[in-house]
Amino acid sequence: MHYSTILAAACSLLAAQGLAAPNNPPNYGNTVTVTKTKEITQYRTNTAFKTTTVAGSCSASSSHSASLSTSHSSSTSHTSSATSLTSSSTASSPTASSLSSSSGVGYSSTTYATTPAYPFCTSYATPFASVDRTHPRLFNYNGTGAKYFAGTNTWWASHILSDTDLDTVFSDIKASQLQVTRVWGFGSVNTDPGPGTVFFQLLNSTGSYLNYAANGIPRLDAVVSYAEKNGIKLVLPFVNNWSDLGGIASYNAAFGGNATTWYTDTQSQQVYRDYIKLLVNRYKCSSAIFAWELGNEPRCHGCPTSVIYNWATGVSEYIKSLDSKHMVTLGDEGWFAPPDNIGDGSYAYSGAEGVDFSLNLGIKTLDYGTFHLYPDSWGYNETWGSTWIVEHDAVGAKYNKPVVLEEYGFATVPGNHTAVEEPWQQTLLLNTSIAMDQFWQFGLPSLSSLSDANTIFTNETEYITLAEDHAAVMLEKAV
Ligand SMILES: *[C@@H]1O[C@H](CO)[C@@H](O)[C@H](O)[C@H]1NC(C)=O
Ligand SMILES: *[C@@H]1O[C@H](CO)[C@@H](O)[C@H](O)[C@H]1NC(C)=O
Ligand SMILES: *[C@@H]1O[C@H](CO)[C@@H](O)[C@H](O)[C@H]1NC(C)=O
Ligand SMILES: *[C@@H]1O[C@H](CO)[C@@H](O)[C@H](O)[C@H]1NC(C)=O
Ligand SMILES: *[C@@H]1O[C@H](CO)[C@@H](O)[C@H](O)[C@H]1NC(C)=O
Ligand SMILES: *[C@@H]1O[C@H](CO)[C@@H](O)[C@H](O)[C@H]1NC(C)=O
Ligand SMILES: *[C@@H]1O[C@H](CO)[C@@H](O)[C@H](O)[C@H]1NC(C)=O
Ligand SMILES: *[C@@H]1O[C@H](CO)[C@@H](O)[C@H](O)[C@H]1NC(C)=O
Repeated sequence: MHYSTILAAACSLLAAQGLAAPNNPPNYGNTVTVTKTKEITQYRTNTAFKTTTVAGSCSASSSHSASLSTSHSSSTSHTSSATSLTSSSTASSPTASSLSSSSGVGYSSTTYATTPAYPFCTSYATPFASVDRTHPRLFNYNGTGAKYFAGTNTWWASHILSDTDLDTVFSDIKASQLQVTRVWGFGSVNTDPGPGTVFFQLLNSTGSYLNYAANGIPRLDAVVSYAEKNGIKLVLPFVNNWSDLGGIASYNAAFGGNATTWYTDTQSQQVYRDYIKLLVNRYKCSSAIFAWELGNEPRCHGCPTSVIYNWATGVSEYIKSLDSKHMVTLGDEGWFAPPDNIGDGSYAYSGAEGVDFSLNLGIKTLDYGTFHLYPDSWGYNETWGSTWIVEHDAVGAKYNKPVVLEEYGFATVPGNHTAVEEPWQQTLLLNTSIAMDQFWQFGLPSLSSLSDANTIFTNETEYITLAEDHAAVMLEKAV
């Protein structure tokens, strides 16, 4: 640990005598007044920090007075104003003319047919997020220097049709001090599902058709637009390994191949790159993009790890050739493989899914590493989660790159996630230099049909612990 880190931590402890809280996030109607979470208590009294004697003086910058134990009792309401945004509710269903075939198989170029219905790239003055030069394991979020912070996931934000909901989601996320959310940048079908379902690409044997109707690319425009408006940044994956919302299976249905040949299939890879080119060129001017992501949980079961490694190298180089200013990441679950010499050789360490986190982190055109954590789906116990976190941090230290826990969850009933997830958050905060974590997933009670058993709903007390307080203490963490 650096001297400056120790000093800053000591100073933050001093500042915490009055129990500093960076601000007063609203509590979404919860009437409970919570005491400080265990995580915050641990951070501020951690013996590793407390018993270190450091010389130096604290700058008087920290003057927070609010106590976290009371800061959640006020229910500040945040207004959702959509007045600055133009609605695109004119077109209804995709028609022959709104499905552009310009990105199809056999076409070498992609054209961008329509004028965006929502304003984006409006905030040129806000710097793009990047890896921090002085602290290469951390991000410089918006030009204000290296910081630790928390984010979340809202996969469905691009697949809902309501602008009001979108604005509420992003303003609630912002009010909670979460900085980044991950939203599906993909949505592909093989046959037109009708106007009520959002999709961006229709893939069939004659090509790839881009959907510019109101249930198509304008929904992504809206996501970028409302993210900009609310000062939230986005991670946008370009394809799904899983068949939800299209993904590799929808390419295979149109162009042949299977879950493992997809990564090297000429037609599929051309259509995938054309889609990437569309999105990157469309949104590369936006400071709301935190990072482009190759895919959600890419796996190549039973393949040598070189398949994903080569694919990730080629695609990330391609993205950098289109846009050198935004970060690029893989979106994998962080599996280890035997050459890494980590773990006990069981499933997560076996390379069975064709992914080697450590090998892939060496790819120059990937700016940071990602990993996920679902012990109950993977056959591990809950405490193993902390081990998984520490192991990925160590690989990040080896490469001197940021590492992000970009999904973590535990499937149970609403309100019952804290006992399992708070210890993970504590480990991440106290034992690692992991730059950001993004819990899976943020839940708006009114959109519960889009949610799953891992969801942390804003109406639950656990939201205060796992979202708001965690976001606050991550921002407090000394760099
Ligand atoms: C982003 O910048 C604004 C000022 O421009 C600052 O208030 C905020 O704390 C910054 N956020 C982060 C995460 O650095
Ligand atoms: C593929 O979909 C497009 C757009 O709906 C349609 O025009 C075309 O006929 C379809 N091709 C096949 C082979 O079904
Ligand atoms: C995919 O196809 C390849 C080549 O035909 C074959 O070797 C492989 O076993 C198939 N994989 C799956 C998952 O079906
Ligand atoms: C996702 O990856 C796994 C492992 O390769 C595979 O079994 C599964 O079929 C994939 N999903 C789809 C939709 O291809
Ligand atoms: C959890 O699993 C790990 C191995 O992954 C083991 O070392 C540990 O003892 C287990 N803990 C409990 C409480 O079962
Ligand atoms: C985190 O650090 C504490 C204090 O050094 C230690 O007791 C604990 O085992 C560490 N946790 C993990 C998962 O390594
Ligand atoms: C709540 O979570 C615990 C783990 O902390 C689990 O054992 C229990 O079954 C869960 N309760 C319900 C009702 O799902
Ligand atoms: C919060 O909202 C979810 C989803 O609508 C619901 O299942 C849950 O019961 C609500 N919790 C409370 C405390 O009202």
